Amino acid sequence: MTEHKLKTSIAILGCGDVGSTLAYTLILNPICTEVILVDPKKELLEAQVRDLGDATYRGNTGTKVRAGNHKDAGQADIIVITAGAKQKPGESRLSLLSRNLHILSSIFTAMQPISLHAILLLVANPVDILTYFARKLSGLPEAQVLGTGTSLDSARLRGILAQKAEVAPQSIDAYVLGEHGDSQFIAWSSITIGTSPLALALPAKLTAEFKANIAAHTRGAASAIIAAKGCTAYGIGQIAASICKYILFDSRSVRPLSFYQPELGCCLSMPAVIGRKGIVRAMPVELDATEKAELETCAKGLRAVIEGAQKELAA
Ligand code: LAC
Repeated sequence: MTEHKLKTSIAILGCGDVGSTLAYTLILNPICTEVILVDPKKELLEAQVRDLGDATYRGNTGTKVRAGNHKDAGQADIIVITAGAKQKPGESRLSLLSRNLHILSSIFTAMQPISLHAILLLVANPVDILTYFARKLSGLPEAQVLGTGTSLDSARLRGILAQKAEVAPQSIDAYVLGEHGDSQFIAWSSITIGTSPLALALPAKLTAEFKANIAAHTRGAASAIIAAKGCTAYGIGQIAASICKYILFDSRSVRPLSFYQPELGCCLSMPAVIGRKGIVRAMPVELDATEKAELETCAKGLRAVIEGAQKELAA
């Protein structure tokens, strides 16, 4: 058996707030033998590795943390990209595109050759656009390239609905679909609490105003946190760690993730079965007429951004 096969490794590109929180989550909930951190800021990288290392010397973790380079990252089982500029208060995720696309492109050049079995998980924003370009830049099969997408927005949606319905979030099945950004939409028609459709579970509350308030809460959640503390980290760290677990354990969980939608010509979030090979398959979704229109608008917006970015990359 080769050295590579004796280890399960997750490489994290970028060890700022999100990358280091993800690494910490992977130490607390060990699923791999090794976490490799990569960052061009050498002092920060070394400090994060030492601080995270300290967290592994007691407690119940088998996961080791080390610094690595891009070539090491290219051979990991999962390559998580958190590297890039982060949103400033009041800034949209899309405004990061130009800076983060160039960072993404240089990362892929430095990582080549990438292991044919690697799964690429995009976390940096704008995640749907970066996932689209990562397919091309990585050279990996389509199913192996995915983005965290609206899995975090869906968790936020579950959280707020759980409060309103006074039930545990785990008893709610609810999806935010489309862009991890302003054109996202809630698939209201498919929400269930236990086995009850939402209209049956919350008949008195389900007004247009209630829906608009919940959608605004979900869409604006990250901005509100960023305005107060400068970043979001714990939510996305937990979501990214759980996706890594679904992949390594081949769990076949159904999650809303960003991946390529051939009929829409962009990457955006739809429910998918996730396993060791990445996106195992897309799950069919039944949307009502309003949701279908929202999906079309969302895809149209993302295609326009992709077109603009393609011109910029070619220039
Ligand atoms: C958020 C970042 C990850 O929504 O976009 O918290």
